[in-house]
Amino acid sequence: MTKEELIERAKEARKLSYSPYSHFAVGAALLCKDGRVFVGSNVENSSYPLCMCAERNALYMAKMNGVQKEEMVALALTADTDEPCSPCGACRQVLSELFPKDAPIYMSNLKGDVQETTISELLPFAFSEDALK
Ligand code: THU
Repeated sequence: MTKEELIERAKEARKLSYSPYSHFAVGAALLCKDGRVFVGSNVENSSYPLCMCAERNALYMAKMNGVQKEEMVALALTADTDEPCSPCGACRQVLSELFPKDAPIYMSNLKGDVQETTISELLPFAFSEDALK
């Protein structure tokens, strides 16, 4: 699957966003080595802190289907932003634990801008399980 196709899947997932409070719809798509794609959109709640981001929904969907970190190939996310949409801090922390540190993350927007990065770049000096030993 190409980068463009993965971003397209994120755009499709974005259409399933439940975001009546922020009116900010986000979509994400995670590609696995075997070709499977797990998607997510943001799902909000009237109790605001319970809102869940698109990236984490896609990542947790992959985890719940038994996908190991080593089997994850790339993640795309998209929103209707001026610049390519960047993952929030909470998602960065979760990605730093569950997603390969040097796998491509395609940040994008609906206009077609794409910026490629990695979780190592997005969250250097991440808190990790090492600190808990
Ligand atoms: N949101 C995401 O889904 N991903 C991000 O990385 C940024 C924020 C969602 C959370 C909330 O539903 C809405 O966008 C506004 O913050």
